[in-house]
Amino acid sequence: MERRKLGLVGAGNIGGELANIAVSRALGDVVLFDIPAKETLCQGKALDLEQATALNRVTATVKGTSKFEDLAGCDVLIITAGVPRKPGQSRDDLVGTNLPIIRDVAQNVRKYCPDAFVIVVSNPLDAMVYELKRVTGIPRERVVGMAGLLDSARLSLFLSRELKVSIRDVKAMVLGGHGDDMVPVLSYCSVNGVPVTSLIAKEQLDAIVNRTRMGGGEIVKLMGTSAYYAPAAAALAMAEAFLGDQKRLVPAATYLQGEYGYNDLYLGVPVIIGGGGVELIVDLPLSDEERVQLAKSAASVQSVVDLVKRTAG
Ligand code: APR
Repeated sequence: MERRKLGLVGAGNIGGELANIAVSRALGDVVLFDIPAKETLCQGKALDLEQATALNRVTATVKGTSKFEDLAGCDVLIITAGVPRKPGQSRDDLVGTNLPIIRDVAQNVRKYCPDAFVIVVSNPLDAMVYELKRVTGIPRERVVGMAGLLDSARLSLFLSRELKVSIRDVKAMVLGGHGDDMVPVLSYCSVNGVPVTSLIAKEQLDAIVNRTRMGGGEIVKLMGTSAYYAPAAAALAMAEAFLGDQKRLVPAATYLQGEYGYNDLYLGVPVIIGGGGVELIVDLPLSDEERVQLAKSAASVQSVVDLVKRTAG
């Protein structure tokens, strides 16, 4: 049986960490792709990672390249091409720089990897994954955006710290767009089934929700660039769900065609990811308040998508 092949488009902070996790978990052979000016950097990272396989007893090759054709035949592509945020910037501020990059990447995906399961990470996430799907024409089952798992991981951490319980027992769910009005759905957050709303007072929960919404910005302020360890772990979890046909129920930016009342829009909703990609969009009952919050978040995403649509490419 052939080893699986993972293509990482963008070999910066997240791309490098993705490669490291993919290799150490023996998920398959890895191709690290970046622009020609970064080709030797990619090659260096690839060689460094291959040398690590000798120590962690993994059989995998890692190739650094700036030739997109080297990505042909990839089972999974994770797209982190683009610029990250600087302090004071919102994700939406990146659209002018990252839109042409995503369009360029999408043309190549359409040409060389039309059968891959594609996970977009570049921001502004929901608009970039929308555009990648539009340009490639790949069915929605195989083009998703990574945001909800990361936002849920942040919420889990803050809940576990507040409650002083193991993060392993905290289940959290964040839906909507990957922006400041994302929707932490507290009615689906629990400590092994015990609702957090019965364990934490409203005031503390409000503060936790707020911190989650600003979770990415908090790290940008501290580091001067955006987070990369947790984003890489989240994207890899989605890739593993596909490669291992794990049927995981996770929040993911998914192309909606009527679900939750939205059409022709990518929005974070719970889905089941298995060997068929997005195998099911789970239609969760939401409270009126949660629906209002989701509508606000969807409107923010729509405004960026509208801008993308108005920008010729
Ligand atoms: N094709 C491939 N790679 C590209 C292209 C392109 N057309 N244009 C830029 N890149 C590369 C850059 O050269 C850089 O190496 O994308 C890489 C991005 O890496 P970083 O700058 O380290 O950014 P990172 O922290 O990895 O974030 C990438 O993910 O979470 C989002 O907001 C974040 O949009 C940002 C993206």
